[in-house]
This record gives sequence, structure tokens and C-alpha cells, in this order.
Amino acid sequence: MTGQSPALVALRSVKSFVVRSGRMTASQQQAYDEFMPRYGLQIESGPLDQVREFGRLAPLVLEIGFGMGASLLAMAEAHPGWDYLGVEVHPPGIGNILRGIHEAKINNLRVYRGDAKDVLAINIKDGQLSRVQIFFPDPWHKTRHHKRRLVQADFIRDLLPKLAPGGVIHLATDWEPYARQMLAVLGAFPELRNTFGEGQWASEHERPPTKFEQRGQKLGHGVWDLLFEKR
Ligand SMILES: C[S@@+](CC[C@H](N)C(=O)[O-])C[C@H]1O[C@@H](n2cnc3c(N)ncnc32)[C@H](O)[C@@H]1O
Repeated sequence: MTGQSPALVALRSVKSFVVRSGRMTASQQQAYDEFMPRYGLQIESGPLDQVREFGRLAPLVLEIGFGMGASLLAMAEAHPGWDYLGVEVHPPGIGNILRGIHEAKINNLRVYRGDAKDVLAINIKDGQLSRVQIFFPDPWHKTRHHKRRLVQADFIRDLLPKLAPGGVIHLATDWEPYARQMLAVLGAFPELRNTFGEGQWASEHERPPTKFEQRGQKLGHGVWDLLFEKR
């Protein structure tokens, strides 16, 4: 690095997303305006102070790309002893999850709007995460777009120090070539152990179905989950 800020590093890298121009519904916009100051976190605020945000120091889970947020809301509700951070770039999804947090009175979930690469570089301290979940990251089907896939060696290299020893990475995708890429990328890190054995998919796991997953299943897509633990 040449002294530039971590934010600039993420700014310059290939993006794993395109922010769609889809308009927010009035309800999403209203939830965004009203609840972002309450349940949202600012990347620019720097390292996360867990005790200040959550009033305690509990195991911390980061979900990257929560989409409309229904499965993350369900997980946060189901595990009151854990604290959750969601990161998303898609404003309608952020509006949606903020409304869900408010309506279900969920106090163990906070949200960042922005690129997860920035959040990891700027807001998360080394060893702070007990779990990272990335469910159905954009598959980027075309070969010329593969460089946009989030799960690549460089990204995992940056992520690894943020995980506590024994921390877990849970990935899922409905695109088999991407599933195989994930298996190869994570399998190449000696710091990580596939909890189901080398080269194996996670045949059991705990997560609610996501919206993207359900859409894929209607089209007959398969689903591949991967669970790796930091040694
Ligand atoms: C295919 S969607 C899946 C959404 C959700 N997990 C589901 O299964 O319904 C992938 C999501 O990841 C988000 N995303 C992609 N790259 C991201 C990044 N670098 N930081 C934050 N969100 C990202 C996209 O905006 C998109 O909403």
C-alpha cells in the first residue's frame, strides 16, 4: 500500500455489484429516512464499538449482501445471544430491513449501507467476527464478469484476519460453477478447515431460505452450502 486510505483501496477495486436503479417504494424510503439514523451504521464512523452499539459484547455475525433482509431478520430474532451486522448496497433492501428491525423490535441487528470490502477494511477489527455469511452472492455468469465475483482469494485473504479463531464462514450459492470456485478458493487456505471434510459441501446447516434462493428453486436450481472454520 502507498499510504492511501482503505476506503480508496475498495473504491479502486473491481465491484462485485451494480447498484440497480430500481426505485424505493414509498414505504422503503420512509423506513430508510426514519430508521437509518437509529439502526444504521456509517462506514465513515470508523471502527465499530460493539459495546456502544449493542450495549454488550456478544459474538458478532456479519452478513454480506442480505438483499431484502428477510433471512437476516429471522436469524437475528432466532439468536438473541448473538449480535448481527448486515451490509448491503441496494437501498430498497436496506429500507426493507430497517422496517423489519423496527417492527419486530430487534435489538441485535445493525446495518451498513455500502461495499462490504470497505466495511471489512474500515469498521471491523481483527478477530472481531465469530461468523461471516454470504448467501447467494451475485453469480456473475459470463466469463468476462468472473472477476466481479465476491468470493476470490484476495477477498478471503482480507477477510481472514477479521475472523476469530474458531470463527465460521458460511457460503451458499445456486450456481454450481461458482460453488466449485468457492470450494477451491477456501480450500486453498491452510488457515481454514472445511467442517464437512475436504472437498465436501455442507450437508447440514442452519439458515432460513433466502428470497433469491426461493426464486432459483422455482426455476429448478440446486443449492450448495459451504461451511469453513478458521483454525
Ligand atoms: C443475488 S443477491 C442475494 C441477496 C440475498 N442474500 C438473497 O439470497 O436473497 C446478492 C446481493 O449482494 C449484494 N452485494 C454484492 N456485492 C456486495 C458488496 N461488495 N457489499 C455489499 N453488498 C453486496 C447485492 O447488492 C445483492 O443485493
